[in-house]
Amino acid sequence: MSSAFYRRSALYAAFFVPSAEMRASIDRVARRMLGRKARRVLDPACGPGLWLEHFHAQGAEVAGSDLEEDAIALAAERLPKRGAIVRVGDMRRPPDELGDGFDLVINLDNSIGHLPEYMDVVEHLASIRRRMSPRGVYLLGLAVREEGDSIDAGVVYERGPVDVPGGGFAALRTETLGLQPVTRCERIRQVAITANVKDAPPVIAEQYDLLTFPLALLKDCLAAAGGFEILAAFDATDESLPAKRLSKGAGDVLLAIRPKDAPRARTKRTTSRGRAR
Ligand SMILES: C[S@@+](CC[C@H](N)C(=O)[O-])C[C@H]1O[C@@H](n2cnc3c(N)ncnc32)[C@H](O)[C@@H]1O
Repeated sequence: MSSAFYRRSALYAAFFVPSAEMRASIDRVARRMLGRKARRVLDPACGPGLWLEHFHAQGAEVAGSDLEEDAIALAAERLPKRGAIVRVGDMRRPPDELGDGFDLVINLDNSIGHLPEYMDVVEHLASIRRRMSPRGVYLLGLAVREEGDSIDAGVVYERGPVDVPGGGFAALRTETLGLQPVTRCERIRQVAITANVKDAPPVIAEQYDLLTFPLALLKDCLAAAGGFEILAAFDATDESLPAKRLSKGAGDVLLAIRPKDAPRARTKRTTSRGRAR
């Protein structure tokens, strides 16, 4: 989904630069799942590339795409040219130029919830699976909600005024209106107020729906995409990312998943004379 707020990427970056605690938590989870530091990292809905910057600074090659041209322009400006590539593209089929063989894919902030239908989620997961290395890990943030679950309406995020890089300041307030009865999407309403921020109107007010996933349907999507094993789940509402049991209606979680039965890296076969061929 295209959003007026995401289109103002300097504004997005002013609010959502990852905190030191969140960076440490993501590093801990990624290292635990991989058994080492990530070498090639893909963010298929990277916004202005704030997480790509983090992994690039640790020596990883990074790649990212996003629907928003403005976000990709800012990511290209912020990231060093060497070892980083970003392109405008849809996460359902990220651009081929981003490459493959990624050992870590990140999609942390429920961006997958912006996809309109579950079939889009399957298309996304299948195209990511093809780009991952066999023992690669995908850290995927999403909401697990069952039929009959409810979310109390209320403010979920409120911050500001904060200074915006490039000039001006802004405040942001995000509310949930709860789960919609038929679609089970979570309805979000958001208002940003800005003063003297380049190319931003004084008020950006919008409403959008985020897909949520009944646990059984989530497992069906993972299977339909070619198969992913769920390695672990973490509580995404807490920046320390404590482990969480993945049960029905678990809420906002960060999943660590890995392609199932992925083709192994080719090893040299040995002839009967013990020579590699
Ligand atoms: C919550 S932001 C997360 C950005 C970034 N991953 C981060 O963690 O800072 C969600 C992003 O998803 C992008 N997005 C929404 N639908 C998309 C799609 N179909 N393909 C690619 N990006 C999309 C938006 O433009 C926005 O930048």
